[in-house]
Amino acid sequence: MAELQEVQITEEKPLLPGQTPEMAKTHSVETPYGSVTFTVYGTPKPKRPAILTYHDVGLNYKSCFQPLFQFGDMQEIIQNFVRVHVDAPGMEEGAPVFPLGYQYPSLDQLADMIPCILQYLNFSTIIGVGVGAGAYILSRYALTHPDTVEGLVLINIDPNAKGWMDWAAHKLTGLTSSLPEMILGHLFSQEELSGNSELVQKYRNIITHAPNLENIELYWNSNNRRDLNLERGGAVTFKCPVMLVVGDQAPHEDAVMADSGGQPQLTQPGKLTEAFKYFLQGMGYMASSCMTRLSRSRTASLTSAASIDGNRSRSRTLSQSSESGTLPSGPPGHTMEVSC
Ligand code: BEZ
Repeated sequence: MAELQEVQITEEKPLLPGQTPEMAKTHSVETPYGSVTFTVYGTPKPKRPAILTYHDVGLNYKSCFQPLFQFGDMQEIIQNFVRVHVDAPGMEEGAPVFPLGYQYPSLDQLADMIPCILQYLNFSTIIGVGVGAGAYILSRYALTHPDTVEGLVLINIDPNAKGWMDWAAHKLTGLTSSLPEMILGHLFSQEELSGNSELVQKYRNIITHAPNLENIELYWNSNNRRDLNLERGGAVTFKCPVMLVVGDQAPHEDAVMADSGGQPQLTQPGKLTEAFKYFLQGMGYMASSCMTRLSRSRTASLTSAASIDGNRSRSRTLSQSSESGTLPSGPPGHTMEVSC
């Protein structure tokens, strides 16, 4: 019998007829580290945090988050929240190339720009959604401004500076790699790259032909990140609930925090939407009647799994624990891990 092969399927569920994306308004604010641009969708909802996103290197808010936020099932979630999508400096559409010698902000400085955005918008709290470098930036922000972060969704984060430096050293051994190929190697796994799917071709094309490639290189180089110094039970902990997402295509998936490979927000928007809905429900923001039958049954099985295994557990889809192995959250936070 022919061997069965696992096939990667990109979920597509576009907006239904009559479902139109909400109006977007783009703003720029000056900060001590330069100007930052962000786009706001929807209107502020009383007593609800804003969802604030931060994209990975080589992308901008649209190329990183549009497939997720325009996914059909996502609409019932996001209609309840105003969204703020931040573009790292020089990554916004039409951004001019920075002059030679321009000092690009460090990731910690990028995190320090977020209060200026929230002050400008008069928003007091957020739920952060970040991918890769964006996940690091939002983590750093959450650690320095814990009272303003109600929840964090961290996709493919590597909070460990050593892990990042090892990865960078490994990548640098391929000295012949061009910047776009290095970035693609950060975003996708080797398996995905050699499969050269339509998605990989699309992102290779976007990055290779980016008019702001010099700016992208600066964001790339700013990635010499500091260790977040998170330890189980340690002094540095998140005070909010955290949803950790690891792409199945991430080469270091078993290390929980992947630094490259797999963009689940592009390839698995349905799974991610469902997990996000469950996460928000845990925070008291989604009535359980809004949940799909599938998530309701997963909720039931999760609850029982959590009571049997009090320690950190990990399944292919969802697991939840009061403590996570690498990114602990002190009470009242909880950590939920999602592999997709
Ligand atoms: C949003 O509705 O938040 C959204 C729409 C398009 C692209 C990104 C986000």
